[in-house]
Amino acid sequence: MSESFDDKLSRLNELREQAHLGGGQRRIDKIHAKGRLTARERVHLLLDEGSFMETGVFVTHREPSIKDDKPVGDGLVTGVGRIDGRQVYLFAQDFTVFGGSMSETNALKICRLMDLAMENGCPVIGLNDSGGARIQEGVKSLAGYAEVFWRNTMASGVVPQISAILGPCAGGAVYSPAITDFTLMVDQTSYMFVTGPNVIKMVTNEDVTFEELGGADTHSTKSGVAHLMAASDQDCLLLTRRLLGYLPQNNLETPPIRPTQDAPDRVEPKLNQVVPADPRKPYDMHDVIDLVVDEGEFLEIQPRYAMNIICGYARLDGRPVGIVANQPKVNAGVLDIDSSQKAARFIRTCDCFNVPIVTFEDVPGFLPGTDQEYGGIIKHGAKLLYAYCEATVPKLKVITRKA
Ligand code: HXC
Repeated sequence: MSESFDDKLSRLNELREQAHLGGGQRRIDKIHAKGRLTARERVHLLLDEGSFMETGVFVTHREPSIKDDKPVGDGLVTGVGRIDGRQVYLFAQDFTVFGGSMSETNALKICRLMDLAMENGCPVIGLNDSGGARIQEGVKSLAGYAEVFWRNTMASGVVPQISAILGPCAGGAVYSPAITDFTLMVDQTSYMFVTGPNVIKMVTNEDVTFEELGGADTHSTKSGVAHLMAASDQDCLLLTRRLLGYLPQNNLETPPIRPTQDAPDRVEPKLNQVVPADPRKPYDMHDVIDLVVDEGEFLEIQPRYAMNIICGYARLDGRPVGIVANQPKVNAGVLDIDSSQKAARFIRTCDCFNVPIVTFEDVPGFLPGTDQEYGGIIKHGAKLLYAYCEATVPKLKVITRKA
């Protein structure tokens, strides 16, 4: 006898409940004890209340060697929801199911989601927390990564892509977030590296901990891989929401305008005192930025990396702008390899997403030295010039002292 409608419904509800429990309460307790949230808790916190519509909820893996363990959803929560009323597509890796590892079906779920995001012109947000390729699936998992990388690349500059790293992210898995526009990391609970401490010990005999090698602090200060660092999962999800507020839905739209009480013709007498009369005396360019932009609100990108240049988002008369500024307080605001790359990438992202660029300039020039010349200051410096020349968004420059 065929299954009745009511039986079918109750079976689906049972499966849905299983999907909500992921890898089970014991594993959920384990990640909570480490200060991390579950994939579903993260989705809930990130999105506007009640806006999430899940896709692929009943998907299970196809790997014969683990056919007796087929968790519903296969360790990945995917779907569509809203942030400040605007539609976004997102996926969240569930570490309680096979360590959030990437399976063949997992990759299919992400690819389907990204295809939908591209068709509808909406941002994609990835909440990453994964042990990498699913060991049991081998090359099928690696092929899945290739499909995701390809879509990240096709979507680049078309719809905003944001990656939040909320746990492990290692090996080739780091390259999907690296292709996206922004990488956010959580202090102490997330890490990213291509080869881990054990392999490094074997190959180069260096001793390094997970945190020193690929923690949020390292990537926020030394490598510049992380654009923003958060104190907790909650903080990271709030930052993601805030960042999205400066970006349009896609490259054919303009970013959202936020009503402001800050009059565009406001006179700010304090600006007369910020820049010292002595041309060799440093000052903090943040003071200039804070005084000029709407309500002094500035979201700095890579605030602790290549600090001789400042990049970030603010608003003027309610409209998002990208700010690029030399920082006389750090190495006299000189341009070097790291600051050229940092600013060039930021300018290109602004250009893709129709965010006008305001530059505050006070620069002694490029940094002299063999380190810089051997490191390729010519080719890296050129990226900054190229980015400015290539950008077709409105560009406005204020020379605060010298250029
Ligand atoms: C399948 C995995 C897994 C994986 C973790 N698990 N990683 N299952 N494939 N890649 C499972 C564990 O077996 C365990 O299952 C559960 O997830 C939690 O893992 P733990 O080890 O208990 O957690 P923790 O102590 O926090 O350690 C996390 C970890 C570690 C450091 C990520 O799990 C680990 O080293 N995993 C393997 C990493 C790896 O080699 N990945 C492949 C990299 S290659 P139970 O049942 O006990 O809960 C790669 C190539 C990509 O990614 C290339 C793209 C081009």
